[in-house]
Order: sequence, then C-alpha cells, then structure tokens
Amino acid sequence: SESSPQADDARGLTVTITAGPTREALDPVRYLSNHSSGKMGYALAAAAANRGARVRLISGPVALATPAGVERIDVTSADEMLAAARQAAGDSAIFIGCAAVADYRAEQIAAHKLKKSANDDGMTLKLVRNPDIIALIAEARINASVSESAAASPRPFMVGFAAETRDLESYARDKLERKNLDMIVANDVSQAGLGFGADDNAALVLWRNAAVEPGRAELPAQSKARLAEAVIDQALRGYRAMRS
Ligand code: CTP
Ligand code: CA
Repeated sequence: SESSPQADDARGLTVTITAGPTREALDPVRYLSNHSSGKMGYALAAAAANRGARVRLISGPVALATPAGVERIDVTSADEMLAAARQAAGDSAIFIGCAAVADYRAEQIAAHKLKKSANDDGMTLKLVRNPDIIALIAEARINASVSESAAASPRPFMVGFAAETRDLESYARDKLERKNLDMIVANDVSQAGLGFGADDNAALVLWRNAAVEPGRAELPAQSKARLAEAVIDQALRGYRAMRS
C-alpha cells in the first residue's frame, strides 16, 4: 500500500543530492559536458525540503534558482563534485545521486587555449575515466560502518539514477548491484518529451533490499515536481525499512 506524504515526516534527516551536469575543462575556454538541465535534482531538493528534511544540493552548472530552504554547493567538474559529496555524505541519512556526471575528462587540461596548426584536418582528444561518485560514497560508507561504531556513522540510504535508451530494467538492476546502491530510479531517455531537459518524466524504481515490497514501482509520466515527491516518498520508505 502506498504511504501518503506527510508534511513534516523527514524533519531531523539530512538529505544530500547531486544534480546537473559536470563540466570537464579542455583548456581555459572549452569543456566537455552533457545536456542535463538539473531540473530533476532540483525538484528532488525542493520535495525533500518540503517534507522537512535538511537538504544539501551539490550542483553542477545549471540555470536554475535554488529551492527555498536548500543549502546549495556549486561545483564544476566531477572531481569537485566527488570532494563535495565526500564532505556531505558523513552525516547524511539519504544520499541521492541525480547528477549526470561526465564519464570522462581530458587527460591533460591545456594551460593555454588550444590552437589549430596550419594544415591539420582534425585532432584527437585523449580522455580518462572520471571517478564514479555514487559508487565511491557507497563503498566508503560500507567500510566506515565496519571500522566505526554503526551509531557514530550509519551508512546513508543510497539512491542512484539510471538513464537508459534500451533494456531499462536490466541495466538499472546491474547499476543497483554494481554500485552497492539501495534504490535506483531508472528513466527511459529515448521517450520523446520525457527526461533530459524536459519538464515531465516517468521512472521505474527498484530496491535491492527485498524488505521493501514489492521490490519495484512504476511511476507514470508526470511533472518532475510530482515525480520528485514520489521518489522522495519511496526513498523515505526504503530508509525506514533499512533502519528497522
Ligand atoms: N554516477 C556517479 N559518478 C559517475 C557516473 C555516474 O555518481 N562518474 C551516478 C549518477 O549520478 C547516477 C548513477 O551513477 O546516480 C548512474 O549514472 P549513469 O550515467 O546512468 O551510469 P554509469 O555508471 O555512468 O553507466 P553508463 O553511463 O555507461 O550507462
Ligand atoms: Ca554515465
């Protein structure tokens, strides 16, 4: 049965959310990035704040206003986002990775603007993998729970997103397991008018813990604001199941 959102039921909980794209410099004037608008992450921050949570929003470069009552931490690159996430994760009850982190960055950031040479007809960029922020936070928290007392440093309930264009459920389940997450919110980004940049979104939610019945929930296409309320509702449900 669906629990109905209660106005203040997240009071006392800290929720950390990553949002937006990251931007990976190539030289002082150019970068690699993606089309993430940040709308979903910002909607999640607003929804969690409305439920009474203390919300930290770690944001890549986006053109959005900070939701009321939300503490925003601006970052540019994946490395900066990881550093901010590590700082914030320690006292978080729930950690939500909604950012579209660039999977690669330039191996070298040129100190000066890259110039064309007289007769070149192209160029090759050497890219290296960025850190997997949510996987590193999930792993660090597991290790911390072993070495410290569980009461001093409980593991946050880890929520990931998965944007896929095919085989949505199997790719999402794979990310849920591989990154040691507790819950994943999967979107089919091949559907016109939904997902990246759009105002509406639909999602499939999967949990790793079998205690959260029935293990999956289909959230139909709706505004990102309403979908965010439903995702926060499901994350709180999962968090309580983990704690009990
Ligand atoms: N993520 C992250 N750090 C990265 C890449 C992804 O924290 N370097 C997080 C995203 O914020 C999201 C989840 O991992 O919560 C899944 O992101 P996605 O791009 O769908 O997965 P990837 O593991 O990067 O796989 P791929 O892009 O190859 O499908
Ligand atoms: Ca990716």
